[in-house]
Amino acid sequence: MQLPSDLPHVSLMDGVTPLQEMPRLREALMSDGRSCPRLYIKRDDLTGLAGGGNKTRKLEYLIGDALEKGADTVITAGALQSNHARQTAAAAAKTGLAAHLILFETVGYDDPAYNTSGNLLLDNILGAEVHRQAKNADARAVFEEITAKIRACGGTPYLIPVGGSNAIGSTAYAQVFLEIQEQAKATGIKVDSIFHANGSLGTQAGLLAGRALAKGGPKVDGVSVSKPTREALLGELLDIASQTSERIGGGPVNEEDVHVDFRHLGDGYGLPTEGMVSAVELVARTEGILLDPVYTGKAMAGMIAAILNEEIAETETVVFLHTGGMPGLFAYPAEFRPK
Ligand SMILES: Cc1ncc(COP(=O)(O)O)c(C=O)c1O
Repeated sequence: MQLPSDLPHVSLMDGVTPLQEMPRLREALMSDGRSCPRLYIKRDDLTGLAGGGNKTRKLEYLIGDALEKGADTVITAGALQSNHARQTAAAAAKTGLAAHLILFETVGYDDPAYNTSGNLLLDNILGAEVHRQAKNADARAVFEEITAKIRACGGTPYLIPVGGSNAIGSTAYAQVFLEIQEQAKATGIKVDSIFHANGSLGTQAGLLAGRALAKGGPKVDGVSVSKPTREALLGELLDIASQTSERIGGGPVNEEDVHVDFRHLGDGYGLPTEGMVSAVELVARTEGILLDPVYTGKAMAGMIAAILNEEIAETETVVFLHTGGMPGLFAYPAEFRPK
């Protein structure tokens, strides 16, 4: 099964990312005589573009669309430590576009490193123009002002939504759903569920569109790191998923296929939790894999809690989708000091 071949696309990575087993994490989770499903990790942190992550995949379609529309500049927005912004800066550099990043001080995490290091440092190295904004700045007005300035200088801007989450960007995660299925088949396993972090919703929407195209397959288990309730995300998630599905010629995405766990958000987006810190350290110390503090750390905390609470049968096989974000660790040094 494949996506339509005529969708605008630019290549930012080589081939597929690895699907690896995590035997030592499984062993650690079984240490009290508990049961544990078989655990795999899909390494989308290894997409290879300036620190990697899920946005490389989305940007292959978004930058493809921008180039087809004759753009020479991309504009996007996010939080100060946005991985999406860093990946957009890298994708723009690789394809010869200018990048403007509108970064909002939304998180309220006060470590000096948060304001200078991590993704923000990399945005500068990658040559993006960073427009730093206060938490309550008028996003639309800022965007209009920057767009007008680019046009006044003869540029052609293309707007990439927050997180690259629209039907164009999410197409990439429909592709990943199919890729996981193919890798599972080649490995001789049947995947029962795919756990991942849910932020701006595009990754989950894309996976669900891929599932609709494949007419079934693993359950898609999002762990929310941004929206606090199902009501806060369901409409938007279904909209992006349905539009993505329509774009790739798939079937409907139904409300009952949307599974999101809201128990691991803590005090809010970008704010550390004990579960996140434990999950980041456990995966690092058992598998030598670095997660991130904002997305994959909380998602892994969700998957581990589901296993320890016996919400997943030991006969199942679970894939954790590592969506990247490791540079964000450097913005949160206080959370990971030796105890
Ligand atoms: C590392 C990482 N993982 C997961 C996500 C969440 O993906 P989405 O925004 O598509 O829900 C993001 C979004 O920025 C991210 O940076």
